[in-house]
Amino acid sequence: MIDRLLDLRNRLLASPRFQRWAVAFPLTRPIANRRARALFDLCAGFVYSQILLACVKLRLFDILSEGPQTLDTLSRRLSLSGDATARLLTAAVSLQLVDRRSQERFGLGPLGAALLGNGGVAQMIEHHTLLYGDLHDPVALLREAPTDTALSRFWAYAGADRPDTLETARISDYSALMSASQALIADDVLSAYPLTRHRSLLDVGGGTGAFAIAAATRVPELRATVFDLPAVAEGARARMADAGISDRCTAVGGDFRSDPLPEGADVISLVRILHDHNDDDALAVLKNIRRTLSDHGTLLVAEPMSGTQGAEPIGDAYFGFYLLAMGRGRPRTAEELGELLRMAGFESSRQAATRAPLLTRLIVAKPAGK
Ligand SMILES: C[S@@+](CC[C@H](N)C(=O)[O-])C[C@H]1O[C@@H](n2cnc3c(N)ncnc32)[C@H](O)[C@@H]1O
Repeated sequence: MIDRLLDLRNRLLASPRFQRWAVAFPLTRPIANRRARALFDLCAGFVYSQILLACVKLRLFDILSEGPQTLDTLSRRLSLSGDATARLLTAAVSLQLVDRRSQERFGLGPLGAALLGNGGVAQMIEHHTLLYGDLHDPVALLREAPTDTALSRFWAYAGADRPDTLETARISDYSALMSASQALIADDVLSAYPLTRHRSLLDVGGGTGAFAIAAATRVPELRATVFDLPAVAEGARARMADAGISDRCTAVGGDFRSDPLPEGADVISLVRILHDHNDDDALAVLKNIRRTLSDHGTLLVAEPMSGTQGAEPIGDAYFGFYLLAMGRGRPRTAEELGELLRMAGFESSRQAATRAPLLTRLIVAKPAGK
């Protein structure tokens, strides 16, 4: 029955006659125009992204953070002709990145201002040039699943048989990107699940330590260990020393799928890890964690998830295709993650609400008895 109704709706929506009628009739006109706009935005999304990239590369938001400025000043500061500056600013105004201000000046718009407050997003936008290249023929990407993509080279562990042998030069760019985008995530996860009842955290795949350092800074008695590839763990130890918390925090190197994990933690975290691994590797990590974690321990799984209400395109379209280009992994629903957890020996899992579920959601899992 529902299928028949949906088919009828689609036949109507696809009919040029219906479309003409819907836009002419005053009561359906707003709906028809909203739908036309949504479709246009889908067609033109890549143009909007490239305008944003131009703003970021030209450091327009940093320049505007000094205060509203005239077209002439901006033209000089951006090293663009007057015409090109006007074109960029007009486009940026339409995208709410920039606002028109009094005396023919331009200032930060609401989205430009929001972006300025989060350096990680600007780095991500520049990083997207790699994804943009990999997506130029999306059908080939779907059909051939090429292994030599720009993203698979960037995320060096993605295609490596022995990721634990990767040298610093291969891990430093992705580690810096992850670290820059970790602050918001850590704050959200640690607010949703304060670690105050725990004494020892093991952050598996913890990168150069941003999450572990944030946790240990919030909870002064907490000990924290990062487990990551050897070259990454070395970077984590250096950052922990810089943060002055080496007495409570350390990092150990190895392959989290197969090497023994450090013992003794009563809470283990996996932040943005499982989604970039296929099921067999994800299961191997979870089983490895289960072997290490005591029966009374807790596992936290934090990542963006498929089917997140209100953020469906972020999990399913963005991460779906990002991970396709990277060559492994997929976004999973909370239920799919729950199933993997069950297969790895965790019996109960619940979700803890995060503030920004579009960036990360959180599952708190407890082991089944051994
Ligand atoms: C997407 S990053 C996430 C880093 C960090 N948890 C965060 O959210 O910022 C994935 C991390 O997993 C690590 N990793 C990938 N494969 C690994 C493996 N087989 N063994 C150990 N670490 C691995 C990478 O080095 C990287 O630091």
